[in-house]
Amino acid sequence: MNPEKNKKIYNSVLELIGNTPMVRLNSVGSELESEILVKLEYTNPSGSLKDRIALEMIEQAEKAGKIKPGDTIIESSTGNTGFALSTIGILKGYKVLIYETMPGKAGGEKMRMMHNVGAEVRLIEPDDIEGLQDRSIAGSEVELPGRQLCLDDEKAHPGVWWARQFSNEDNVRAHYRTAQEILDQTGGKIDIFIQSIGTGGSLVAIAEVLKKECPGVKIIGIQPASSKEHWTPGMDFPSTEIKGGIVARMLKQPELIDELVMTTDAEAREIAHRLWKEEGLYCGISSGANVHYALEEARRAQGKLTIVTLLNDHMDRYLTEEHYVT
Ligand SMILES: Cc1ncc(COP(=O)(O)O)c(C=O)c1O
Repeated sequence: MNPEKNKKIYNSVLELIGNTPMVRLNSVGSELESEILVKLEYTNPSGSLKDRIALEMIEQAEKAGKIKPGDTIIESSTGNTGFALSTIGILKGYKVLIYETMPGKAGGEKMRMMHNVGAEVRLIEPDDIEGLQDRSIAGSEVELPGRQLCLDDEKAHPGVWWARQFSNEDNVRAHYRTAQEILDQTGGKIDIFIQSIGTGGSLVAIAEVLKKECPGVKIIGIQPASSKEHWTPGMDFPSTEIKGGIVARMLKQPELIDELVMTTDAEAREIAHRLWKEEGLYCGISSGANVHYALEEARRAQGKLTIVTLLNDHMDRYLTEEHYVT
């Protein structure tokens, strides 16, 4: 046991957001020379990296006078941002309404979790999972109908605030801290950083910081293979009130992301299973996608590289169905 761990008493669970641990993989990829370091975002209080952005978006909106306790926070989400906003919003005295945008039974755990903490959850079913080629689920695409409902609700009802995770700059700002933690944990010795893309908030923020601080670092973003849009760095990506946002900003800067790749549902799931069984890392399926691609890079590498990625959420939301969802 580590005698230095958790020596103090915290005043609230909100103080436990961020400062997540980083762990070296021991078994997965052990045949390869490079080292793979994973940052355990699933150890955040609600079980995903989205606690960071939920706290930042709410606190900045409070500071700007856009919301006050008693108001209703709304969002369209495949579930992690929904549960993070539910956790933090309800603790802070807000009502929370989430349009859950997962097909069929895939979002069942997250819907129950949000309901259990007192949020209102409305299911907006996209195409059935069988209709999504590859059965992975791209948040940037399936969240669109829910975003339209959020926009309509916010316009129609005073006291309703849509967090707009896909375009809210406070999403990116929250992850500047994630980036600083990565620099502190690695001493800045990072050759490759890899992250799955939902809103793009974590990838954009971490890419911006690492590109400045780690000369020669390679940044790789992953889209779920079901994505109808195949993004390339530098491509034109028009924004609307419900689409684009942080992803559009990312694509506009061709030097920010070196490669955009796709990972399939099956590839992501296979590696998530190995992380559970061989490493005791109880992460979700997008974490499997990240490590799948880290292994691909380690196989291609000449010499010993340090590859860093995030384990985005907890396995507890994939007990019924296991899909690569962002
Ligand atoms: C499980 C999971 N992995 C990865 C991501 C990607 O995070 P971001 O929105 O920062 O791109 C998300 C969110 O969309 C997610 O829920």
